[in-house]
Amino acid sequence: MSMMSKSDMKELLGERAAMVEDFLRSCLNDIAAPPRLKEAMLYSLLAGGKRLRPVLCLTCASMCGGAVEIVLPFACAIEMIHTYSLIHDDLPAMDNDDLRRGKPSNHKAFDEATAILAGDALLTDSFAVMCRTRVSADRLVRAMATIASAAGAAGMAGGQQMDMEHTGGPPITFESLQRMHAMKTGALIRASCVCGAVLAGGDEIVLKAVDDFAAAFGMAFQITDDILDITSDTTTLGKPVRSDVDKGKNTYPFLLGLERSREFAHEQVAASKAALSDFSGKDAEFLSALAAHIIHRTF
Ligand code: IPE
Ligand code: IPE
Ligand code: MG
Ligand code: MG
Ligand code: MG
Repeated sequence: MSMMSKSDMKELLGERAAMVEDFLRSCLNDIAAPPRLKEAMLYSLLAGGKRLRPVLCLTCASMCGGAVEIVLPFACAIEMIHTYSLIHDDLPAMDNDDLRRGKPSNHKAFDEATAILAGDALLTDSFAVMCRTRVSADRLVRAMATIASAAGAAGMAGGQQMDMEHTGGPPITFESLQRMHAMKTGALIRASCVCGAVLAGGDEIVLKAVDDFAAAFGMAFQITDDILDITSDTTTLGKPVRSDVDKGKNTYPFLLGLERSREFAHEQVAASKAALSDFSGKDAEFLSALAAHIIHRTF
């Protein structure tokens, strides 16, 4: 596969993230909600995240022959789920972090009850937004089941439970760490990619390759997130640094040290690129370049 330049990759990322931004703004405006709740939802949703999961969804759909415009509602619904997870992750009962996306966390800008409800509402309303996706009912139901399971107890919520149970405790085994990361972060990233492929009508072989790509990508992504907690600064990162260290989180650097964590992230990027070997064209090149980029990101 020929390599996409970094500037072309960033251009396409910006283009697709802008589509997501526009759609999110318009569909949230359609929801009739108490003003303070709606304000809290919009506050976090439009705070300028990287939009990685929806962009992955759009790109995997396009790589499998689908049109990005068709998949856009579904991709944006995934960003709503992701944003809910960040709002709840920052709550005092969880990571107790006061900064997110460069702004006070939702419960700091509003209050805890509003932050809990803004998260609940973003998650629940996301399923209504998914239903706006104009594909066959078969494809849509499969994609919705995939994303629901990925966000639920066997996926993100379960991974967050493991994270909380092990915070401040002794180092967990490497296998448990991998499983925790695969659930709390990997599951939603995998589902973002697989749902794009499902909505575009990809066959089982294609879905397997997309899933393999995403599993390795998700792992590299969370390892990098763990590393940035130590190596970045708050202004660049937009969230508190050394938060994991101070709380005694079981992270890759905590278990393996920085150097081995970096090596591991590199291995995962190589695995994610290898999974794309049967694909060609702009979208596959973009995914490959994005995978190379995420471990060198600074936020
Ligand atoms: C942060 O995700 C939470 C993790 C799962 C590591 P992102 O780094 O994608 O956060 P935003 O959406 O860009 O703010
Ligand atoms: C969060 O992991 C994963 C989810 C929100 C599901 P982290 O707790 O490491 O995420 P950040 O570092 O606060 O963004
Ligand atoms: Mg957390
Ligand atoms: Mg956190
Ligand atoms: Mg983190």
